[in-house]
Amino acid sequence: MSRSLAALFAPDEPPRIASALVTVASSGIGAAFARRLAAGGTTLTLLARREEKLAQLARELEGRCAVELLACDLSSEAGIAAACARVEAGPPLDLLVSAAGFGTRGLFAEIEPERSMAMVRLHVHAGVRLTRAALPAMLARGRGAIVHVASLGAFLTTSRYVTYSATKAYLTTFCEGLADEVSARGVLVQALCPGLTLGTDFFESPEYASFRYERVPRAFWQRPEAVVEASLAALARGGPTLVIPGLHNRALAALLRAPLLGRLARRGLAALGRHGLY
Ligand SMILES: NC(=O)c1ccc[n+]([C@@H]2O[C@H](COP(=O)([O-])OP(=O)(O)OC[C@H]3O[C@@H](n4cnc5c(N)ncnc54)[C@H](OP(=O)(O)O)[C@@H]3O)[C@@H](O)[C@H]2O)c1
Repeated sequence: MSRSLAALFAPDEPPRIASALVTVASSGIGAAFARRLAAGGTTLTLLARREEKLAQLARELEGRCAVELLACDLSSEAGIAAACARVEAGPPLDLLVSAAGFGTRGLFAEIEPERSMAMVRLHVHAGVRLTRAALPAMLARGRGAIVHVASLGAFLTTSRYVTYSATKAYLTTFCEGLADEVSARGVLVQALCPGLTLGTDFFESPEYASFRYERVPRAFWQRPEAVVEASLAALARGGPTLVIPGLHNRALAALLRAPLLGRLARRGLAALGRHGLY
């Protein structure tokens, strides 16, 4: 990695990233990215559907950095096109954070088809199209970074999380391939794979109404700020592409990917899922 790119993401001080676009910054991990970047004076473009939440965050960041807002639905073609048009028309980005995502729980055959398709469009189409929109300017300048917020779910090929896991696995594979293409040209690509993250709206959807938070040991949860620090610290080091914040999450990912033990662990998780415990 070039020295200038390392300096851009130096972990011991607010990052000197001039401009960043963060999708879904109305809450959770996206909002934590926005707050962290604002501390370094990064000019921010923030995207999500809930205008009032975006406006609230913009008011909070006032005086720290310039903020532009774009309210759009990234699971629709019109929303994706509007977001890409903003990227292409705006100043070149140093950083693109694509955090767009929501979760579903339940058997694939029982989930409304449109809900699954919205997930594919949000996680995959929006992420890929925004990457394609941002990349040419980054390559032309020989610097920049693209972070896709995937999930530990990318390694959870079990029942009840079929489309979620598949779309997140798409993102990790996409990032690993793309990193191979562009890292030598000064652009970092990262698939950020958080585990359970507190202080987000992720578990507010109807599918998670029966999710028993209290049964998950406290040690398994992370704060969005810790997830963001892990991401920026990895960018400052110049990699790796796959970033799994938290030792417990890295251990679980290693277990799930192990040939025999991984199959047993996934079976165990599927059994817990059948009893509504996860
Ligand atoms: N929380 C966890 O435990 C966890 C674990 C692993 C990975 N993740 C991943 O982290 C990412 C961020 O989630 P989070 O945990 O921070 O949850 P969150 O607080 O619910 O944030 C998700 C954001 O996505 C936005 N969003 C949802 N659908 C959208 C759409 N169609 N168009 C535009 N924006 C949309 C929401 O904003 P609006 O409603 O305003 O649009 C919301 O701000 C997701 O990709 C998720 O899969 C989360």
